[in-house]
Amino acid sequence: MKILVTGAAGFIGSHLCELLLQDEENEVRGLDNFITGSKENMRAFYKVHPRFSFVKGSVTDKEFLRPHIEWADHVYQLAAPVGVKFIMNNPVHTILDNIRGIDNILELANQYNVKVLVASTSEVYGKSLDLLDTTGTRGLTEEDYRIEGSTQNHRWAYANTKALDEFLALAYYKQYGLKCVVIRFFNTVGPRQSSQYGMVIPNFVCQALKGEDITVYGDGTQTRSFLHVYDAIQAITELMITEHAVGQVYNVGNPFEISIKELAERIIQKTNSRSKIRYLSYHEAYGAGFEDMQRRTPNIDKIVKTIGFKIRYDLDTILDSIIAYQKAKLNVT
Ligand SMILES: NC(=O)c1ccc[n+]([C@@H]2O[C@H](COP(=O)([O-])OP(=O)(O)OC[C@H]3O[C@@H](n4cnc5c(N)ncnc54)[C@H](O)[C@@H]3O)[C@@H](O)[C@H]2O)c1
Repeated sequence: MKILVTGAAGFIGSHLCELLLQDEENEVRGLDNFITGSKENMRAFYKVHPRFSFVKGSVTDKEFLRPHIEWADHVYQLAAPVGVKFIMNNPVHTILDNIRGIDNILELANQYNVKVLVASTSEVYGKSLDLLDTTGTRGLTEEDYRIEGSTQNHRWAYANTKALDEFLALAYYKQYGLKCVVIRFFNTVGPRQSSQYGMVIPNFVCQALKGEDITVYGDGTQTRSFLHVYDAIQAITELMITEHAVGQVYNVGNPFEISIKELAERIIQKTNSRSKIRYLSYHEAYGAGFEDMQRRTPNIDKIVKTIGFKIRYDLDTILDSIIAYQKAKLNVT
């Protein structure tokens, strides 16, 4: 199998390449423009592994992309602007890169009959759970309404361009029979995730290791749920080869919820840090009008039914692996 991974130098993409290379039948090509990714993430296989090759460039450049899609049997489309901070600071790129990238990938995949997995995001649900579930007991299903805010709040632009990615992939499937699978990653975490772009766990771990205040946005009662990247990549590689996943949308996440305040406390305790929690309003963090959601939890019945998805890593294991990674990176004992 010849497999193209876009966003291969990123957090999920680099782990995905490693997993795919474990199968001796696979030849893997990574593609990335390094806007948030790095060669360091690919250290284990870049210029080392005989079945891995790499091309530098952007998915927004159709003629650059063409030979690589033509070469592939499968494409994992992961390349995208990522992270709330990055997205808020790069509003035009966020919209155009998502739209142009998916347009190119799907058009070429359709032309060369290549199967595509499109990485979408739980952001497409917007504030649905807060508004649909007043009991605070259920998770989001793939069929749920998406409830998003004003166009004046750029956060929702990212959500809407990702939703457009989904619409376009499903439209290619319906109109031309293009084989595609759409997945919605909920918070996916693990070693190599950057602390630079507003990702909560690497941020908190770095602050705790440096003994700095841990900045919690809002009052910290909002909950989130976290899936280890190893579980996430296992799931998407299985979905990619499952015939009845074609033309479907799947949540990929962990239903276990923790409040952000509790998360900060657990990280302080695990790192034996002297850090204190400092609360910062969303307004101070991201500017006036920024909205966040109280809960963002997946219902995973569909993926469990399709591939027997199992969560292997609990939150403590996840935190331990990230702390070990950040310690090595920061050279802290
Ligand atoms: N990590 C999460 O919790 C999460 C949650 C929801 C969705 N996702 C989705 O998963 C995918 C991977 O995210 P990640 O967490 O690994 O982020 P990441 O930033 O580590 O990886 C994204 C990679 O794409 C590359 N890239 C960006 N724009 C590109 C372009 N135009 N052309 C080529 N390469 C480009 C970046 O350099 C980076 O290496 C993204 O599509 C993201 O939207 C991730």
